[in-house]
Amino acid sequence: MSHGRPDVPAPRMGLPDLGHGVGLRREHWDDLFAPGGAEGIDFLEIVSENFMARGGRPARVLERARAHFPLILHGTALSIGTLDPPDTGYLDALAELCARTDPAWVSDHLCYSSAHGVHYLDLIPLPFTAEALDHVVERVRGVQDHLRRPFLLENLSYYIEYAASEMSEAEFLSELCQRADCGLLLDVNNVYVNCRNHGHDPRAFIDALPAERVVQIHLAGHDDQGHVIIDTHGDHVIDAVWDLYAYTLERTGPVSTLIEWDNDIPSLAVLRAENHRARAIAEAVG
Ligand SMILES: [Fe+2]
Repeated sequence: MSHGRPDVPAPRMGLPDLGHGVGLRREHWDDLFAPGGAEGIDFLEIVSENFMARGGRPARVLERARAHFPLILHGTALSIGTLDPPDTGYLDALAELCARTDPAWVSDHLCYSSAHGVHYLDLIPLPFTAEALDHVVERVRGVQDHLRRPFLLENLSYYIEYAASEMSEAEFLSELCQRADCGLLLDVNNVYVNCRNHGHDPRAFIDALPAERVVQIHLAGHDDQGHVIIDTHGDHVIDAVWDLYAYTLERTGPVSTLIEWDNDIPSLAVLRAENHRARAIAEAVG
């Protein structure tokens, strides 16, 4: 749909709506391929770093998953915002994984997780400054040149806000997507968590995003401790996040949606039920 600006891409940047998926987790490797195990699961998201090594059971499971589902790759170690030189070894391994899985797209997080050659386990937010924006735009272009695949960045959950930030997160994401011509993996739970923790309006945040750049959505549970919410990915999606999901879909249209559940991982049946709820909301929104 044209908005009068030649640089505005089609909804989802022309990428497919894959439906409703879950992460490929070791805990579900057997159940997923048992009779009825895959019911209601339209696609699988692969944590890239867990499947980069060749051989062994992970490689066999990945091959089987590839035969049965569309796959997408989601990384946690790209460290797109680092000031270190691009990690070509990591990018080569990611490109090789792409060749084995043929993902519809590849994603990682808007953050940095390495500096001076040291890698951290934490994903650290970036200040929303013009300088950081220029840097990440250049880095995203480099990743796209290397992978030759559609690339998305995910909005992070964070517990600090930088006094140095010169623009809002939504402005930063909008500029980034347009200038680097990348997509947005919109984590609706992260929007809710950040807005609650930092006193922002989650619907205003969604309104300020470029809806046509939202290629995928994450939904997850969190731990509400009253004075702070911790983004644990260890529980059911709460009603307020389901509501925000519906609000988002009204603006974006249908978008591939994934239930993220990374801690205290439940049975596949529980994930399927969450997936079913997401699908029902998407169908109700139309
Ligand atoms: Fe996420």
